[in-house]
Amino acid sequence: MYDLTVIIPTFKEEANIRNIITEVDAVFKQNNLNGEILVVDDNSPDGTILIVNEIKKKMANVNIIIRLADHGLSQSVAEGFIHASSDILVVIDADLSHPPFLIPVMYSEIMDGNDIVIGSRYMEGGGIRKWPIKRRIISLGATFLGRLLFPDVSDPVSGFFAVRKSVIVNAPLKPRGYKILLEVLGKGIWEKDKEIPFEFVDREIGSSKLKLKTIIEYIQQVIDIALFSLSHHQSATWKEWKKAIKFGLVGISGIVVNMGVLWYLTEYVGLYYLVSSLFAIELSILNNFIWNDIWTFNSEISHKLTSRWHRLISFHAVSFGGLIINMGILFLLTSVGGVYYLISNFIGILVGFVWNFIMNRRITWTKM
Ligand code: GDD
Ligand code: MN
Repeated sequence: MYDLTVIIPTFKEEANIRNIITEVDAVFKQNNLNGEILVVDDNSPDGTILIVNEIKKKMANVNIIIRLADHGLSQSVAEGFIHASSDILVVIDADLSHPPFLIPVMYSEIMDGNDIVIGSRYMEGGGIRKWPIKRRIISLGATFLGRLLFPDVSDPVSGFFAVRKSVIVNAPLKPRGYKILLEVLGKGIWEKDKEIPFEFVDREIGSSKLKLKTIIEYIQQVIDIALFSLSHHQSATWKEWKKAIKFGLVGISGIVVNMGVLWYLTEYVGLYYLVSSLFAIELSILNNFIWNDIWTFNSEISHKLTSRWHRLISFHAVSFGGLIINMGILFLLTSVGGVYYLISNFIGILVGFVWNFIMNRRITWTKM
């Protein structure tokens, strides 16, 4: 039995495969790890398979799966999960975009109790080298969508990660497209994750196989995970749904506070209604802040990292943005689009709500 299995998905990697295997094995030796290397190849028409078979003769810890059906990166990785002969699985690209020296770090993070360890390009210390602007934009879009499902994960679409086998054994993975990590995060059973930064270096040799179809598949995958989580309450995304629902309930309580204060100050204190409204808005913001801080986001790590004042100011800034968005939409739809103002306002409230939730989740109550 091996300590860990490094899964290398390949398609037409004859120029890289020898280097990556050599590097990974060197890292095993330097760190006294008894590691397996499992190449999962989609029947590459080039020399990839031949080269691996040749290496196999000299290295007993190298294996290869040759797939003949259901071509695809995610499918290949998922098949690697099943055939790995160890309980700790690491996935790494063949094209040397991911630094193998981090494999032992990932391994020990799993040994320390993390279920998933992610190599992140989007945290401090991480980065991307040699990427054309178009790829950067597509990647940022994909990352944004992924973070809707997992706001605490900075790089949920990374191709470089480690996972404990128990996370995925009973997970109904539906692998497709490029983003197998998102599938693992969405369908796997896990509690603790950890990210470590790395610098992604784009391939020197060969070309990336990312296509438009890949992007469409990705959007389908995000929707699929969101729906899956509705009926699987141990999933990480369900916890986000719960927060969004609590945040919505708090928002409704804020409307009650706002209306009540507006009415009271105008009727009983005799203030001009627009002056009452200023107090009403501020009190409803305070109301929402307190409930969100002690209820909606009570378990967020931000409580240990920032002061309540800090979060209060951040919440105000986000709420102010939400107000502008709400009023902007009201104005645009009604004055420009001719929509009935109560309908415009309703749409404005909804969009403002989404803004408030996402921004507060990212800024006010976050672990990063
Ligand atoms: N078995 C198999 N089947 N392997 C494949 C396939 C396939 O259809 N397509 C690609 N691979 C292998 C490649 O041989 C390489 O080892 C790895 O998967 C990544 O493929 P690239 O084509 O180099 O992907 P990329 O550089 O565009 O994308 C990388 O970064 C993304 C994040 O921006 C990958 O790490 C992605 O997983 C990651 O999401
Ligand atoms: Mn690549």
